[in-house]
Amino acid sequence: MNDQNAIGTYSAENRSFEPSPAFVSRARIASRAQYDALYKESVESPETFWKRETSDLVFDTPWSALSEWKPPHAKWFIGARLNVSQSCLDRHLTTATRDKAAIIWESEPGETLTLTYAALHEKVVAFTAALRTLGVRKGDRVAIYMGMVPEAVIGMLACARIGAPHTVVFGGFAAESLRDRINDCGAKVVLTQDGALRRGNVVPLKATVDRAVETIETVEKVVVLRRLGAEAGSQLRAGRDIDWYDAVAAADPAQGHAEIVDGEHPLFILYTSGSTGKPKGVLHTTAGYLAGTHLTTKYVFDLQDDDVYWCTADVGWITGHSYLVYGPLSNGATCVLYEGAPNQPDWGRFWQIIEKHRVTVLYTAPTAIRAFIRQGNDWPAKSDLSSLRLLGSVGEPINPEAWMWYREHVGKNRCPIVDTWWQTETGAIMLTTLPGASFTKPGSTGLPFFGVRAEVVTQEGQKVPTGEGGLLVLKQPWPSMLRTIYGDDERYREQYWTEIPGAYFTGDGARQDADGYFHVVGRIDDVLNVSGHRIGTAEIESALVAHPAVAEAAAVGRPDDLKGQALVVFVTLKPNQPATPDLKKRLAEHVANEIGKFARPDSVRFAESLPKTRSGKIMRRLLKDIAAGIETKGDVSTLEDLNVLAQLREE
Ligand code: PRX
Repeated sequence: MNDQNAIGTYSAENRSFEPSPAFVSRARIASRAQYDALYKESVESPETFWKRETSDLVFDTPWSALSEWKPPHAKWFIGARLNVSQSCLDRHLTTATRDKAAIIWESEPGETLTLTYAALHEKVVAFTAALRTLGVRKGDRVAIYMGMVPEAVIGMLACARIGAPHTVVFGGFAAESLRDRINDCGAKVVLTQDGALRRGNVVPLKATVDRAVETIETVEKVVVLRRLGAEAGSQLRAGRDIDWYDAVAAADPAQGHAEIVDGEHPLFILYTSGSTGKPKGVLHTTAGYLAGTHLTTKYVFDLQDDDVYWCTADVGWITGHSYLVYGPLSNGATCVLYEGAPNQPDWGRFWQIIEKHRVTVLYTAPTAIRAFIRQGNDWPAKSDLSSLRLLGSVGEPINPEAWMWYREHVGKNRCPIVDTWWQTETGAIMLTTLPGASFTKPGSTGLPFFGVRAEVVTQEGQKVPTGEGGLLVLKQPWPSMLRTIYGDDERYREQYWTEIPGAYFTGDGARQDADGYFHVVGRIDDVLNVSGHRIGTAEIESALVAHPAVAEAAAVGRPDDLKGQALVVFVTLKPNQPATPDLKKRLAEHVANEIGKFARPDSVRFAESLPKTRSGKIMRRLLKDIAAGIETKGDVSTLEDLNVLAQLREE
């Protein structure tokens, strides 16, 4: 271990950094011994641990038993009755938090809107009444397809208040993907906005909703926020569409109450990519998810009452759910919500926002950090970043160079960095360092959070020796774990609980070092992580084969300095289809139109055939090597036709 200003002689991976005495003196968990004791309690006496640690949340009826585990199905906080929105809002109304800012919204053009906890509560109550008046009841599903505006958060909390599970669909998804998700969960109402502002352009969300819901019978109402102003005029379809604030004005104000639900009542469904087939509707429930996000936010971000906390994730992803909405609001934190792109109007925007709002905690993604590095050190240097005290990273492995840049140029060698590993499925952070408790290392996600038993194992479930690579598993259920895949219990069981005996399989590869710190290297299944966006190769492939020119397709990831992974697709064409550069462009465009622009392939390569085993399975690892331009070291003896490799290399 080195002191916090260590420089130079080590390669970045070997360095470690202790938190400064100033940070430790205020930290909630201020020593390794304190972490160790709490961790021990969390796994050995979980009842005592969770009782105390959730005592500030609002339960209408307390739980009678902590959990029930009938593999692979877990229940937590048995018998508890509550409503999540009361812990996020109502409970703050009787304390000084009432008049504290809950959301500081920064629009892309630069306006600021601040909502105190009292104001946010009022808006959520009003919109709850609006949704109830439109017929939304406990158990109904509501889809939310919006940009980064306060109403997106208000919509989520209003759904929670009714007990109507929301499914937020990232605004970058195309109509087809939106339709699949609305259809899969049978949403009754869709919340959207006329358009979102992104890099100075308008993203026409309402028009996409119109296309998506055309053929969907379950959708009864579309509620439209006029973000661009009434004059920008999105067309409201009579009988189906209603203006957001007209719906509020027309509502019965008595309908804004919180419905008390069982602790295992579904809170939301969030679709994510798996290694096969269509996206999975990851289902999270009420009490366990709230407990997990509440506790991790408090301890991982070491929340203090005067913090101004900024999580840059979009509400459409799990990070936006857990660390933009439920975790911070249940802790009474002040959250910055930024509407736009990091480089609008220029690459100084993030740093100006930090200076303007005196942000103290910043939680962002490695891909953003790498993009900033490319723009040079001058941008962060132009703004006053002295308010920052803690930095976080999430979504993909952070390379040590990016970690060091983040530390030096953003944190000014003063702020600890928490590298947090978790997934849509885990609901909350699973691996991290607690910033005041222990040293951090570039490229390591640290130790398990309370109640988490993580291990690196072989395919047979045997723990691998220290320092060796293996599969990352979680050995026991935890409160914020997914409960199932919506409508598909069998897929849930198969996907997560059958691969490795007796454990939840994460899909990630990892190793644990001599300090017990985890190093997560990334997915080892057919899931890609492109700029922190999780993309299933199967989804890309099925979009491609739906194109009339395509016979067969295989999608793989190629290491990329900026995006982590770039998306490369190999395509064989149907007979008589000319393999032109123009067709490559059209195929890339086709994927963007079918799934979303973030899934546009970086490279399309034509192939006469794809490398397959004799049983017809595409040999992806060979394609990965070809995409990366490296010599294949692996075994090719099972390859059906060796010529295929030579042809692919030539192309
Ligand atoms: O591969 C891991 C990677 O992101 C995957 C989960 O993606 P998603 O469900 O979209 O959730 C992202 C936000 C939590 C994981 O299986 N991942 C996430 N965080 C890290 C990470 N890889 C390395 N280090 C991390 N800190």
